[in-house]
Amino acid sequence: MTIETSPDPETPEVPETEAVSTLIGTGGEWWRSAVIYQIYPRSFSDSDGDGIGDLPGITTRLDSLAELGIDAIWLSPFMTSPQHDAGYDVADYCDVDPIFGTLADFDLMLEKAHALGIRVIVDLVPNHTSWDHAWFKEALAAAPGSPERDRYMFRDGKGPNGDEMPNNWESVFGGPMWERVTNPDGTPGQWYLHIFDKSQPDLNWENPWVRERFHDILRFWLDRGVDGFRVDVAHGMIKEAGLPDYTPPADAGSMGGGTADALVGLEPGIDADASADPPTPPYWAQDGVHDIFRGWHSVLEEYEGERVLCAEAWVEPLTKLARWVRPDEMQQAFNFTYLSAGWDAAELRTVIDGSIAAFATVGAPSTWVLSNHDVVRHASRLALEAENLQGAGIGPNSPGLPDPVVGLRRARAATSIMLALPGSAYVYQGEELGLPEVIDLPDSARQDPTWFRTDHEKYGRDGCRVPIPWEAGSPTYGFGPAGSTASWLPQPGDWDELARASQEGVADSTLELYKRALALRSLHGLGTGTLEWIPGYGPEVIAFRNNGVTVIANLGQTPVELPAEGPGEVLLTSEPLNEPALPADTAIWLL
Ligand code: NOJ
Ligand code: MG
Repeated sequence: MTIETSPDPETPEVPETEAVSTLIGTGGEWWRSAVIYQIYPRSFSDSDGDGIGDLPGITTRLDSLAELGIDAIWLSPFMTSPQHDAGYDVADYCDVDPIFGTLADFDLMLEKAHALGIRVIVDLVPNHTSWDHAWFKEALAAAPGSPERDRYMFRDGKGPNGDEMPNNWESVFGGPMWERVTNPDGTPGQWYLHIFDKSQPDLNWENPWVRERFHDILRFWLDRGVDGFRVDVAHGMIKEAGLPDYTPPADAGSMGGGTADALVGLEPGIDADASADPPTPPYWAQDGVHDIFRGWHSVLEEYEGERVLCAEAWVEPLTKLARWVRPDEMQQAFNFTYLSAGWDAAELRTVIDGSIAAFATVGAPSTWVLSNHDVVRHASRLALEAENLQGAGIGPNSPGLPDPVVGLRRARAATSIMLALPGSAYVYQGEELGLPEVIDLPDSARQDPTWFRTDHEKYGRDGCRVPIPWEAGSPTYGFGPAGSTASWLPQPGDWDELARASQEGVADSTLELYKRALALRSLHGLGTGTLEWIPGYGPEVIAFRNNGVTVIANLGQTPVELPAEGPGEVLLTSEPLNEPALPADTAIWLL
């Protein structure tokens, strides 16, 4: 079966006035096939020894990213913030938080990245601000019904004294989605909505003033030369009118995604009938969000070059997610359905087919992602033996903890599959070192608001955010400068072998596997290729061809014989092979 990635001009999603090809240019834009490396600044490289990674730290490490062979970096937020949600609570969108450096540090970092041929994407957090933002302070100081309050989601409480919450919505991080404010005279006042922590009040995106301010913010960063934006919670900005009560199903992940059984959609490539979608929560994936992104698309078009918007939208099925990347909206959307798929060949095949087909209907490339700062690292997740909903995290008392050897083996095979797929791929810092989730963080070190708002029921996301190791033998594994012992989350004691310098030049290391895969991906144009499944293998095998490269992965336990005829040259194996058969949890690329 061959699936073309080219747009289907028959699709009902395409605006009638222009052909897809005119809207999307030549189809050769960099982001269609780019490998984008996510930097989580606070955990990447610390230049000043305060235990928190920073922009100068990133600048000093850019050469190592160029060597890795990535095309772009995406930086999680480094803007001014009280850091109640690790910077996803922004108090000033147009400045750098002092813990990360200054705007001048940003400019230097950008300049060096561009000189190395690395594009730079910054994180924009439009669904909510920090409660420290001047707009929110002005809203609190102003009266109910004022224009200042209308920038946020303030409502009167229910009941005779207004002391009941306006509705029953529950925060993604646990507890209610509402917080009551106190009036200047000390009496209890209105309530404001916060999908996340109470320090992250939601903006009112029905208000044109809010829309205009974000156009200014986009231009501020575009003027500085950024190549695009990763858009936080791009499925949450508009709420259903009337804010009706809603109780999510038990198997919904915290950001709105489902479990590993996630739906990919109808038949691949079909998105004609919105009524076939599963029920939409009143705060996720409302139709009104698309207008916002059309406006942003136009702002990006004011600028030279190929700038990009990438949606962080936990929306299923994929046929619905494809609406975020229609030709006049965003360029990319994270494929969390792919990330959520289990270690199961049939499920992966369905998700891959469904992804390519769903995105193709709107002329967009599929993206692929296995890890980020919100999910259990895939070197652990792929060997979990109990269900783990997104955002829950794992800790010492979680059920079904992973075997680290099996996890790493699967992660290397999974990455070898992902980097051979056509489209754009996201890599999260540290996965190129094979880092596992840090499970045994002391409770006292945990910082994710999820941990606190669920009364320690959910461990949250700290385990994938531990500062990454650069060198063996130094107190912070080289994360901090010489002599520094500070690290905002404690690093495990046994990471010497995982440190980047320990893996450099070591043939079978995970780092060298990534470098090799990225170089081959570029050499053979896999990002722009076409996927063709190879029939004849058992149900536990993934086998496909892309631009002349044959990829076979054994997700089962029984060794799989390699083809006696046909492609012969071994380009890459996710594990060293001693015989002409593919052992359990192993992938191979052949030419
Ligand atoms: C998604 C971000 O990736 C996550 O880290 C954050 O907590 C929420 N959005 C809220 O901004
Ligand atoms: Mg620092």
